[in-house]
Amino acid sequence: MIKVITYGTFDLLHYGHINLLKRAKELGDYLIVALSTNEFNLVKGKKCYFSYEQRKKLLEAIRYVDLVIPEENWEQKINDILQLKVDIFVMGNDWKNKFNYLNDYCKVVYLERTPEISTSKIKFDLKLDEK
Ligand code: CTP
Repeated sequence: MIKVITYGTFDLLHYGHINLLKRAKELGDYLIVALSTNEFNLVKGKKCYFSYEQRKKLLEAIRYVDLVIPEENWEQKINDILQLKVDIFVMGNDWKNKFNYLNDYCKVVYLERTPEISTSKIKFDLKLDEK
């Protein structure tokens, strides 16, 4: 059983997220998503539209996702990898090389982002549309 983990906010779920989750799951057998809490998002300078519970339910409804756990700080990754016996850590390549230190604990993979879509872009485009 190969376990894969990825981290993120996944607000206003979109096809870029689905593409990422599908390819992450294809790297193994069991996909864990560590979902940023709204409190941690504030630390990251992000404000979510959906609550943590709403974002968690959406992720749990996706066939590629086996488990959703909270991401509450920057430091928890090593502990998560060891406790959950994770084999592969996956992030989109907007994070390329940022988590190479995790190579001591598991394999680290950066996947290509899906072009031209992001939560920020959706928010920005809808705001323009109001005018
Ligand atoms: N992601 C992706 N392709 C996109 C958007 C996101 O592969 N077009 C990936 C990110 O690289 C990350 C995960 O999806 O691994 C969760 O990203 P998140 O930051 O929650 O989504 P964004 O749409 O990038 O949100 P924002 O615009 O707020 O940064």
